[in-house]
Amino acid sequence: MMRVLSGIQPSGTIHLGNYLGAIRNWVAEQHEDAYYCVVDLHSLTLPIEPSELRENTLECAASLLASGIDPERCTFFLQSHVPYHPQLAWLLECVATMGELNRMTQYKEKSEKSQGKVGLFTYPVLMAADILLYDAVSVPVGDDQRQHIELARNLAERFNTRYGPTFVVPEGAIPTAGARVMDLQQPERKMSKSVSSPLGTISLLDGADDVVKKVKKAVTDTDGDVRYDRVAKPGISNLLEILAALTNSTPQGIAEHFERYGDLKMAVAEAITNTFRPVQERYETYMADPAELRRVMSIGADRASLVAAETYRRAAAAVGLIN
Ligand code: TYM
Repeated sequence: MMRVLSGIQPSGTIHLGNYLGAIRNWVAEQHEDAYYCVVDLHSLTLPIEPSELRENTLECAASLLASGIDPERCTFFLQSHVPYHPQLAWLLECVATMGELNRMTQYKEKSEKSQGKVGLFTYPVLMAADILLYDAVSVPVGDDQRQHIELARNLAERFNTRYGPTFVVPEGAIPTAGARVMDLQQPERKMSKSVSSPLGTISLLDGADDVVKKVKKAVTDTDGDVRYDRVAKPGISNLLEILAALTNSTPQGIAEHFERYGDLKMAVAEAITNTFRPVQERYETYMADPAELRRVMSIGADRASLVAAETYRRAAAAVGLIN
């Protein structure tokens, strides 16, 4: 079995991009040796109220379980419950360079909001630690994490060269459809938890009426031709890609079935609603029993800690720390 690891920040309600770019692929990979975590430490990199972080974390965990993450088949845990993540991040910070962190595009995009705080700058190193601690071979993520995965690979290789073989060098697993779901109102920008765009973002918890309203209002263009062309027709191409991802098809194949934008939009809204409805029902059940959520996460943390402790000790010994 292949070791798989991925994580999601609890910094807002999970949206369609998270679902198509990552979560449903996590579910599909559960027959492997999979580790999935809610990366709560990462959510501290931008200003957030403590009460909001607490709520978001439980909601995020409930959303993942409702989406089909099965804690009996994978190891499902909260990042902050396993103290080796920041510990290993420190060792990796001592091999990472300012230059490579400066090149991270997500940092450049978000740095204004963090008002110069160091955590946002070093966050990709913490992400590398999340991955390397578990000897992950495959990391299912959306397209926006490509550069961070590349950094994790570089840090692993540099560490191995300097201190001897210690880490597995991971690979990103990026889906062919749904890897970059765009904002419905601004289809040149990706759908995002941290940017407020209520009409452009479809939440996992949106009811059918909201989904229909948002998809109907999705920005398209005026030439009236249903065709997949990300550059010339970003809005329509985004809808085609969403439907392709939801129906395991290709955007080009979907385009052949539609002549009118309105029909395409109705089909997209229906596919989203049909996918999300059962998730929402299960979500309510998980949210009604926070004690059970905590119990599940604590079992996951115990399992994750066993693996993480082993890797951390290996890395610590390699750099010369006395175990
Ligand atoms: P985060 O929390 O922003 O997003 C979680 C996952 O959702 C994907 N995603 C998208 N996919 C398609 N279209 C979109 N519009 C879209 N927006 C988000 C992301 O690519 C991601 O897979 N740094 C990570 C979290 C992280 C992590 C890790 C991931 C921390 N440690 C270790 C993998 C392994 C992040 O902020 O993702």
